[in-house]
Amino acid sequence: VPWAPGGAAAPGGFEQPTAAGGISLQERSRTVRVIALVNQKGGCGKTTTAVNLAACLALNSRRVLLVDFDPQANATISLGADPGTLSRTVYQVIVDGPGDDGGDLQMASVITPSSVEHLDLVPSSIDLASAELELSARIGRENTLRKKLAPVKDQYDYVLIDTPPSLGLLTLNALVACQEAIIPIQTHYYALLGMRQLLRTIKVVRRRWGMKSRSPGSSRRCTTPGRASARRSSKASRIISPIGCSRA
Ligand SMILES: Nc1ncnc2c1ncn2[C@@H]1O[C@H](COP(=O)(O)OP(=O)(O)O)[C@@H](O)[C@H]1O
Ligand SMILES: [Mg+2]
Repeated sequence: VPWAPGGAAAPGGFEQPTAAGGISLQERSRTVRVIALVNQKGGCGKTTTAVNLAACLALNSRRVLLVDFDPQANATISLGADPGTLSRTVYQVIVDGPGDDGGDLQMASVITPSSVEHLDLVPSSIDLASAELELSARIGRENTLRKKLAPVKDQYDYVLIDTPPSLGLLTLNALVACQEAIIPIQTHYYALLGMRQLLRTIKVVRRRWGMKSRSPGSSRRCTTPGRASARRSSKASRIISPIGCSRA
């Protein structure tokens, strides 16, 4: 629970609104939690977790910014926006750095309210796929998202960043920008092979860029393992437990 003035911590870690109508957001002393959903494997539940977690937090009166940092724009589509019709997305913000023709497009200019109260979206589009290449020659390229989020993040209680299925520059930007990471993972043997690389990357980010993370949390995606994969899944549990996953 990041803050709890006037509220009692409820089982499961959520504080209950006290006054009728809930807690006044303005009265809260805010400490924003910036959380990235990461796993270089696709289809493990990053977007589903990001969208549902964002909606649940918003329905509990938390002010949430969901940053879609995946060119596939699935989180954007989930919240009802059509990436093809948007004139500006996170792509323009990310590539338009200070010094580029004097421009420095602010994150605030692309933040869009969603149909869920308290939930705002930074939309994505397929253009973002070229951002890795465009940023690659820039000094401080891994800090781009962190810097662009800095002026807006304190308006929120939670900033959730959905990332693409790769360990490229976009995911690196998300890891540098966040304080915590959630790693959705399937309890399949092959799904675990990439975990070591991801955890190594997180370790490097924490050491080099000061990601103020606690141990990253992992969430297990539902699965129906066969006998062979069940055996391997017990190996999965051994690997997962050091990063704080409770048994499903
Ligand atoms: N906890 C879960 N249990 C079962 N299926 C899930 C779960 N989370 C996501 N899925 C399903 O898995 C598929 C891929 O999820 P998605 O969130 O798009 O993954 P990613 O963003 O990591 O590529 C979707 O069809 C989604 O409905
Ligand atoms: Mg996704």
